[in-house]
Amino acid sequence: MSNDAIVILREDHKEVRALFREFRRKDVTQARKGQIVAKVVELLTVHTYIENEVMYPEVRRLLPDLEDDVLESYEEHHVADVLVTELSTMQPSDERFDAKTTVLIESVTHHMDEEESDWFPKVREGLGRTQLRELGEKLLAAKERAPRSPAQPSALKKAVDAVVS
Ligand SMILES: [Fe+2]
Ligand SMILES: [Fe+2]
Repeated sequence: MSNDAIVILREDHKEVRALFREFRRKDVTQARKGQIVAKVVELLTVHTYIENEVMYPEVRRLLPDLEDDVLESYEEHHVADVLVTELSTMQPSDERFDAKTTVLIESVTHHMDEEESDWFPKVREGLGRTQLRELGEKLLAAKERAPRSPAQPSALKKAVDAVVS
């Protein structure tokens, strides 16, 4: 597995996108929708944690010109956090489950598209290969300690930090 920071983050996005696609299929059962959303909640909790803890602050420090993008990302993640936290307590049979998931899919897809088409290229240009590898190692280490559910205290703390700091 690559230790390039951008490759690592792209792989996460790919996994999330595959689940989003499956959720949108017409033949997917309600039970399967529940499993998909549970997995999406877990993946996004980890992914948000490693971006908020490592990627965004490090890029902000190393490439101050990208600060506005980082601040926008914090806000987009914050919106997704709200939906993820609510979905984590819901059942697929709940009236608003599908609608909330659809809004999550739309907003997270927009954010991932922006990272992939706009932000990652800027970061790759600004940082050398070595720095991207060092950043990748930090991302992998953060993954090990990352919360897997929004109910875990470290998930809540990072959400609060991202908004108020
Ligand atoms: Fe992000
Ligand atoms: Fe991302």
